Amino acid sequence: MSNVDIGIDLGTSSVIIYTKEQGVCLKEPSVVAVNSYTGELLAVGTEAAKMLGKTPDKIKAVCPLEDGVIADYELCEKMVKYFLKKVSENIVIKPRVAICVPSGITDVESRAVVEAAVVAGARKVFLVEEPVAAAIGAGIDLNKAKGNIILDIGGGTTDVAVLSLNGIVTKASLKIAGNKFDDVIIKYIRDNYNVLIGRHTAESIKIGVGSVAPRLVDAEMEFKGRNLLSGLPQKRKVKRSDIREVLMEPVIQILQAVRSVIERTPPELVGDMLENGIVLTGGGAKLDGMPELVHKVLKIDAYLAPYSEECVAIGTGKLFDFTDDMSDGIIESILYPHH
Ligand SMILES: Nc1ncnc2c1ncn2[C@@H]1O[C@H](COP(=O)(O)OP(=O)(O)OP(=O)(O)O)[C@@H](O)[C@H]1O
Ligand SMILES: [Mg+2]
Repeated sequence: MSNVDIGIDLGTSSVIIYTKEQGVCLKEPSVVAVNSYTGELLAVGTEAAKMLGKTPDKIKAVCPLEDGVIADYELCEKMVKYFLKKVSENIVIKPRVAICVPSGITDVESRAVVEAAVVAGARKVFLVEEPVAAAIGAGIDLNKAKGNIILDIGGGTTDVAVLSLNGIVTKASLKIAGNKFDDVIIKYIRDNYNVLIGRHTAESIKIGVGSVAPRLVDAEMEFKGRNLLSGLPQKRKVKRSDIREVLMEPVIQILQAVRSVIERTPPELVGDMLENGIVLTGGGAKLDGMPELVHKVLKIDAYLAPYSEECVAIGTGKLFDFTDDMSDGIIESILYPHH
């Protein structure tokens, strides 16, 4: 590998890196492990996730991006540097790097991200908004875009945007996404079973029997947790129909955000939108029945993009094809002096 462009999706749940030459070449959880006493960085990504739970006293897991914002930007910077170094080891010429940042990011935070990329060897850094990257990744040609609506449901945030001829026409971002689905499941199990479950268990229930559309068979799933009354571990079962009711609340809020975006979109584009349908991206959009529900509530066809979880990274990596034409949604960052 000599001269490459690298795309990074800096997500709340995972960091995904894409290059045209290699495709998706890194996918690791957005987690770092630090020494609880000294704050020293011990491991990043998959390694950090593996260390969790094994040595709980000394080691603390930190998600530098929480709810789609940068909770700890020093650790975030270190994480970006680590991942970028990992994929660009054999690169001779300094790469151009495009990074998809959470929509709620501040100037200081974006500067930290840009700087991390420069320190890691980038010669030029571009920042891109998530729905723009998701659209490119889903195969929408931005030069021809006309009333294309994108709904990206990630871990921390959901982004909705209407794109047309090289820019974002209307958009919304809300902090209700995959993590929130897990939260409502945890709360439901606690309130109705008196059992406390962890985030991992909640996520497997969501992926296992979570659904927002009616299904013929009311599947059941077994889970383990700690009974709050006895304090002891317990095995219980939960039904798809119960989980569906619980998930509907956050999902309806997402659909309301989409509706408000449509309401603010010029009527001509709404017509095009009806032709194009809504494209769903992000891991959270893989929730069973999501496209069906979107179609039922909003009366617009809805499709889950292929590789929906990787869409943003793929789009970020392909961004360089569009940089000359894009006006909105990309911030071309100035090159920072070297340290
Ligand atoms: N099959 C599935 N069904 C339901 N949810 C899923 C499925 N697969 C993954 N998810 C959820 O997708 C979410 C992660 O999605 P994604 O990787 O797009 O997030 P992210 O890009 O890291 O976050 P953000 O865009 O908010 O910063 C998690 O909440 C995960 O539980
Ligand atoms: Mg994302």
